[in-house]
Amino acid sequence: MAVIGIVREPAGEARVSATPATLASLRKLGHEVVVERGAGASASYLDDEYEAAGASLVDRARAWGSEIVLAITAPGAAEIALLADGATIVALLSPALRPDLVESLAQRGITALALDAVPRISRAQSMDVLSSMANIAGYRAVVEAAHEFGRFFTGQVTAAGKVPPAKVLVAGAGVAGLAAIGAASSLGAIVRATDPRPEVADQVKSIGGEYIPVDVAVEKSADGYAKATSADYDRRAAEIYTEQAADVDIVITTALIPGRAAPRLITASDVALMKPGSVIVDMAAGQGGNVEGSVAGERVVTANGVIILGYTDLASRLATQASQLYGTNLANLVALLTPGKDGELTIDFDDVVQRSVTVVRDGEVTWPPPPVQVAAPAPVAAAAPVEIPAPKTMSAGRKALLVVLGIAALFAVNAFAPAPLPQHFTVLVLSVVIGFYVIGKVHHALHTPLMSVTNAISGVIVVGAMLQVTSSDVVVQVLAGVAVLLASINIFGGFAVTRRMLAMFTLGKSTKGGQK
Ligand code: NAI
Repeated sequence: MAVIGIVREPAGEARVSATPATLASLRKLGHEVVVERGAGASASYLDDEYEAAGASLVDRARAWGSEIVLAITAPGAAEIALLADGATIVALLSPALRPDLVESLAQRGITALALDAVPRISRAQSMDVLSSMANIAGYRAVVEAAHEFGRFFTGQVTAAGKVPPAKVLVAGAGVAGLAAIGAASSLGAIVRATDPRPEVADQVKSIGGEYIPVDVAVEKSADGYAKATSADYDRRAAEIYTEQAADVDIVITTALIPGRAAPRLITASDVALMKPGSVIVDMAAGQGGNVEGSVAGERVVTANGVIILGYTDLASRLATQASQLYGTNLANLVALLTPGKDGELTIDFDDVVQRSVTVVRDGEVTWPPPPVQVAAPAPVAAAAPVEIPAPKTMSAGRKALLVVLGIAALFAVNAFAPAPLPQHFTVLVLSVVIGFYVIGKVHHALHTPLMSVTNAISGVIVVGAMLQVTSSDVVVQVLAGVAVLLASINIFGGFAVTRRMLAMFTLGKSTKGGQK
């Protein structure tokens, strides 16, 4: 049974690598868990809760000296010295950017796993900590912008005057960008977004944003991410950013191309066009910045009164939620590494996820891993055209012939059939024609509730059948009884279906079931 140590993060990092709930998952895998005293305090997880979940509280040296150490921030020299021989550490190690750290971990003869190196493949989604943190950060970017902005996000008509909705531009519609679009549009703002990958247009629209295309083709990499954009693209995009800067109140930039410095999107002259009190959140400030003038970790106010936020700790500012998602991602990785659920950690290099995250194995540097090919979803525009057979339409001549035949049949029935058949027949034909045109004008989505309501027409059958129940003929009586029963089922069933269907169109009711 391996002992897992949950350590207290350094100052400035409010998250913790395990919550009492995720700690319980780790224990179910057969591991014993020790928690450094106060480790979860800044994320509102108290020592008592960890103890109640089955952990022992220990001091710093014991937690860092565990066989497996779970952390968020990469260890410094002091922490590396505290690691036990042969230990395994899992944290955000940024191995591509920090070869020095990888080297010092290797010198200690330990195993180091970088949680930020989980490949973005479907099987690894439950461990994709970068996505879960980017999702939180995108949401928090909107909260920070709303906090700085001196107006509502939503438009309102009040007794004191009309308030226009805020206009928000989101540059880059990846995980963080989509979370920002969703949060801003749910606050009532008008949200626009742009991204070199045209396939995100539908996602942007589905969460309430408007996609602004930059009509210049972009080459795509095998892993589904955007490649560096061309000079043509950048020129057209720059025009769009300039137009938008003069119009919008909030800009949130999230543009990132893996393995490169963040692309510069908003220039100082764009910022100068913005209204005083406008807010820019440059989420990529830590990677060089998408916005000229943003400073990593700082709040800057420009000469024309625009506030530029370059915070790099957005996920940590929502520490309770972020710790829960980080802890769950981490527990899923530990579960992958503990296949026997017996507290024995094993690393299988034939597994692409385990291979990708392993930066150092038993003192040997194993970074970088072989590249993982992620199948890019085929862009809608590039998909092979599908031949849709044209619906068969009737020629005008045939239609005219059918109408003439129908009218002739109607006259024949009226002329030769015994009363009261002609009268009933005429009513039937007229109902078919009127029903066809009335129902044909109703939107398809509403056909089911409409049809179930029109089932109330069965009421006519009930009335007719009730009149026949008193007949002296037993067969007629039985048939009338059956007709009353079946028509009643149709009526009440129809109303029940209508209620259910209409509830699905009512905001709030449909989502309640999914909320816990
Ligand atoms: P992602 O890879 O899912 O999304 C990045 C998006 O930028 C992609 O959709 C890409 O197509 C787009 N993009 C690339 N070049 C562009 C260009 N020239 N113009 C417009 N869009 C472009 O990345 P994710 O996970 O959404 O992260 C976004 C950014 O947020 C990254 O810079 C990440 O480091 C940062 N981040 C910041 C945090 C903070 O606390 N400030 C926390 C978490 C993430």
